[in-house]
Amino acid sequence: MPRIVVVGSINMDLVTLAPRFPGPGETLLGSRFLTAHGGKGANQAVAAARLGAEVTMVGALGRDAFGDQMHAGLAHEGIDLSHVARLDDEGSGTASITVAAGENQIIVVPAANACVTPAQVEDAREAIAQADAVLVQLEIPLDAVEATLRLARRLEVPVILNPAPAQRLPGDWLKLVSYLTPNQHELATVLDQGAHADFRELMRRAPCPVVLTRGGEGAWYRDSARSEPMHQSGFAVDVVDTTGAGDTFNGALAVFLRQGLPQAVRKACAAAALSVTRLGAQGGMPRQSELDAFIAGRSGT
Ligand code: RIB
Repeated sequence: MPRIVVVGSINMDLVTLAPRFPGPGETLLGSRFLTAHGGKGANQAVAAARLGAEVTMVGALGRDAFGDQMHAGLAHEGIDLSHVARLDDEGSGTASITVAAGENQIIVVPAANACVTPAQVEDAREAIAQADAVLVQLEIPLDAVEATLRLARRLEVPVILNPAPAQRLPGDWLKLVSYLTPNQHELATVLDQGAHADFRELMRRAPCPVVLTRGGEGAWYRDSARSEPMHQSGFAVDVVDTTGAGDTFNGALAVFLRQGLPQAVRKACAAAALSVTRLGAQGGMPRQSELDAFIAGRSGT
């Protein structure tokens, strides 16, 4: 059973379904509202746990009703929460999400997530030392991200940096990363390049292996040893909600990394495809048996 440590955010997603996105100053009537457990870190932890990994989460929640619900939800998935702080003076993170025609718009209020510290990462040293892979994103303070990258590198544990939400990063950080998993916009931002640069060229410029997600088109990947980016096609499905697709991809990639990058990327694309067939970031994340059956039915992809 692979062991994965996820250092990242935990949010309550406040999801509104609408016929389209409203313009500035416009009020629309939506068709449905729901709360759903989310946050990039928590989503990646749940994706990995459902695929059979032993997962430890490092993060922070408020001691509020949302925090209680999300703590219970993560515990129910079998995730070790001994490194998730409960804060008395800060609320849990939230994400206001509008879903329209399968696309989404998201506003995150980090709250407790902004209080994740390098010291918490250091406290999780033993779990990180024993992990097969570490996952980290950019919804927590950058000093905690940096501490994760440096500790994983020091302990020689593969570390996957999912640079979302996109922001520019100090150049030397990327040399600490085992796999960078951006979409095109995120890669352009991280490398401080123009948004319209060719994504294959951007991949060549990155100083670390890159696995670039392209939504329904699948993913491109470039191991440092290979000179040219390789393509894995996407798996065609009926899209309900793309929220959390990238997180499912990352969680699956970490779980299957031991099988080699091409196989891990293929399984991650399949897991992400299944994830968009149901509402909510964690709603469609598959279990191992579901993923196996799906891939067996699509042997040509
Ligand atoms: O990647 C999707 C996630 O981004 C949502 O669950 C939301 O919480 C935001 O963090």
